[in-house]
Amino acid sequence: MARPFSLRMLGFCIGYYVLLCVASWVEADVKRYQFNVQVTNVSRLCHAKPIVTVNGMYPGPTIRAREGDRVVINVTNNAQYNMSIHWHGLKQYRNGWADGPAYITQCPIKTGSSYVYDFNVTGQRGTLWWHAHILWLRATVYGAIVILPPKGTPFPFPQPDREELVVFGEWWNEDVEEVVKQGNDLGLPPNMSDAHTINGKPGPLFPCYEKHTFAMEVEQGKTYLLRLINAALNDELFFAIAGHNMTVVEIDAVYTKPFSTHALLIAPGQTTNVLVRANQIPGRYFMAARPFVDVPIPIDNKTATAILQYKGVPDAIVPTLPSLPSPNDSAFALDYAHRLRSLNSGKYPATVPLKVDRKLFYTIGLGRNACPTCVNGTRLTASLNNISFVMPEVGLLQAHYFNRKGVYAADFPDKPPTAFNYTGAPVTANLRTARGTRLSRIPYNTTVELVLQDTNLLTVESHPFHLHGYNFFVMATGIGNFDPAKDPAKYNLVDPPERNTVGVPTGGWTAIRFRADNPGVWFLHCHLELHTGWGLKTAFVVEDGAKPDQKVIPPPKDLPPC
Ligand code: C2O
Repeated sequence: MARPFSLRMLGFCIGYYVLLCVASWVEADVKRYQFNVQVTNVSRLCHAKPIVTVNGMYPGPTIRAREGDRVVINVTNNAQYNMSIHWHGLKQYRNGWADGPAYITQCPIKTGSSYVYDFNVTGQRGTLWWHAHILWLRATVYGAIVILPPKGTPFPFPQPDREELVVFGEWWNEDVEEVVKQGNDLGLPPNMSDAHTINGKPGPLFPCYEKHTFAMEVEQGKTYLLRLINAALNDELFFAIAGHNMTVVEIDAVYTKPFSTHALLIAPGQTTNVLVRANQIPGRYFMAARPFVDVPIPIDNKTATAILQYKGVPDAIVPTLPSLPSPNDSAFALDYAHRLRSLNSGKYPATVPLKVDRKLFYTIGLGRNACPTCVNGTRLTASLNNISFVMPEVGLLQAHYFNRKGVYAADFPDKPPTAFNYTGAPVTANLRTARGTRLSRIPYNTTVELVLQDTNLLTVESHPFHLHGYNFFVMATGIGNFDPAKDPAKYNLVDPPERNTVGVPTGGWTAIRFRADNPGVWFLHCHLELHTGWGLKTAFVVEDGAKPDQKVIPPPKDLPPC
């Protein structure tokens, strides 16, 4: 089916890519979806409080497209909360209007209103996901995005017999927005979740689980592609399948050099594709997910389970549990991260920027602010380079595009105001932490290196960082303070993992690189909702390039007003 001709398409066709564009125009499909945001009763865990869903589904509907397709999603909000939806990992080239984070690239879709997210899937294939990007609504408003390679293009690994989605989530028995409000009023973290889930179901280690267990039937000798997505709000998860190894072939919709492992780690925001061969004695095997946390902080440490069930095996057989790494196994986490490599083949090269135009060094800090009405007289806060981000009241992309003054300052510092021993003895005081809507301005096509440094302000902790609008290369990670004289020697300049969300290890650092070739305003934040809410976020304003096809496209007519 040919894609209908549009002005936007015409714009895209002008420039360098005429031939490529015409070719994809002929082949590409338009995939249309209707998302009805509504309040639904889905009972889980002896609990029947209604939740916010898309189309009454939990998890929500799966978006399926092929590389090169155009995807058009009409979101109508019939819930009592404002809504916006982010297509996590989609690059949205020049098209931040479709990115979704509320007050960053758009104002929210108000109750009773609609907005159409219209974007092309260009140069990406694999597993991504979508989620609400306002308040904590992504607790229940999320789903998978599956991007297949173009017709006739095989996967660069053995073709699986079948594939299956495995989406991890977190479940609260109470209304999540109420839980968050309570926490904020007290100045404390909100109550932790009541369960972890796999495809919306907690599994038999929880009460009232009947029917709430996900089971996947397999046939002896066949190979399955599992598309794993961590949609949990605050928990990095270990995952394993009893008796079966997994071969990692893709992360964040980028192919990797395949490697086999008995367990894996997946942070909120990340996706991982694995091949699993049903090569064991026919039986029932648990798949299990449980948090990784290597600091003494309270966390929902309960195990979600699902079942890998060989065809013909009776349900009466009790499955065995896999041996997951212990919850504080930092060594496993570091080793696993080091095993990830881009495929870097002729067809899928790793285009690592080798020359860096701009070096950024951002410290991650937690802290406490005075709050006379809170329980301890303080409220928890978080900052990057000692700046706790304040959400604006209008979308930053509009402010940038229409050159509206006074919404943000483009003066986010390239390094922290005070250098100190970041990962030494705990620092309990905030270090001149300021609040502000401060962004970093980046000229078009700049190559950027960003070192994210964890600190012992209040406590060290690991933080999965997500950048919108781009993939980046993970050059290296380390424990302790980043040393600009020595650590760059450890960089992988050949086949570093390419992704959109990366863990900064507890008391350590991660260095990433990307080329700022996508103009717009792009959010950078910790993907632990708890920390994002406390201010652990900022954004890049990537300026337009000189050519017509290097500029932000005009906003759609139905862009929601604030
Ligand atoms: Cu998946 Cu800004 O988030």
